[in-house]
Amino acid sequence: MEKANLVSGMRSTGKLHFGHYMGVLTNWVKLQDEYNCFYFVADWHALTTKYDKTENLRKDKIDVVLDWLACGIDPNKSTIYFQSKVLQIAELHVLLSMITPNNWVERDPTLKDMVKILKNKTGESSENMPQMSYGLLGYPVLMSADIMALNAHVVPVGIDQLAHLEITRDIARRFNNIYKTDLFNEPKPKLTQIPLLMGVDGQKMGKSFNNDIKISDDEIATSKKIMQCITDRSRVRKDDIGHPDKCEVAFKYYEAFANKETVQQVKCECSAGKRGCADCKRQLGNIINEKFKPIREKRQEFEKNIDAVYDIINEGSKKAASEAEKTMEKAREAINI
Ligand code: TRP
Ligand code: SF4
Repeated sequence: MEKANLVSGMRSTGKLHFGHYMGVLTNWVKLQDEYNCFYFVADWHALTTKYDKTENLRKDKIDVVLDWLACGIDPNKSTIYFQSKVLQIAELHVLLSMITPNNWVERDPTLKDMVKILKNKTGESSENMPQMSYGLLGYPVLMSADIMALNAHVVPVGIDQLAHLEITRDIARRFNNIYKTDLFNEPKPKLTQIPLLMGVDGQKMGKSFNNDIKISDDEIATSKKIMQCITDRSRVRKDDIGHPDKCEVAFKYYEAFANKETVQQVKCECSAGKRGCADCKRQLGNIINEKFKPIREKRQEFEKNIDAVYDIINEGSKKAASEAEKTMEKAREAINI
């Protein structure tokens, strides 16, 4: 039986962090064997909020792909591409925008959050700054085009993207109804199981909060950041009884990155007051560095061979475009255009 198509994308945010690794990439790597995977960098989507900050865009895009490859996204199994290289997506976006009622996109809760973030960034006082562009309003429509151009059956996303995907299903259904076709299936979300890792300060992990550890960070930088991890705040001296379940970040990282025996040992020693937090985090840093060593080495190999990485992306983009073209031929025919 032929494998079902799976599509997922990430905005071109630059180097990825541990949150991406645990929350998304390990999942993507696994899915490669089960589905016909299309993974892309959403560089058009990046412009919905950063249209005026494009100076690092090219570098950011390639950094994302380098991290994917290092973590095990395999170009022999999956199609890797840039959204902006698949023009069929833009075409489909135009067509879908014609049939999408305004209130579907205006109601999107994710969008409302984004507007809030945007407001914070630009400062509410800057009157001349558009708070919401036409493109940003169309974010879920463009995302629908990403997914529908490849007629994906499955879309792995985080919980924050579910509302978008709901709109995609509505748009797919509406297209089929209006043009009397069964061209588009209604793509199903595949929720990421693993909870998102928080930043070293216990807040949501993010580049702009300076609380993240990058997949590509070196060992010294990693160890340093691990030493900043929040622990059990009620602990003052190193022989105080500790509470791993209240150890807000460090122990969570142990659970994410260390093996079961180590986690158990840390738990026992901490609870018995036989483990100091500084030592505990030093060990954690070593474990994490050990785990990421092969990934980081692989990334460096790809960095040295950057032309080959561009070849992978170009090949992938061509393949995605030819797949999307098949869908578009049928879509144009259904519309009669
Ligand atoms: N909106 C997604 C995010 O911010 C990225 C994205 C764009 C996407 N197009 C997609 C994800 C299509 C899945 C499918 O994370
Ligand atoms: Fe957390 Fe380790 Fe300190 Fe216990 S000893 S509170 S697990 S950092």
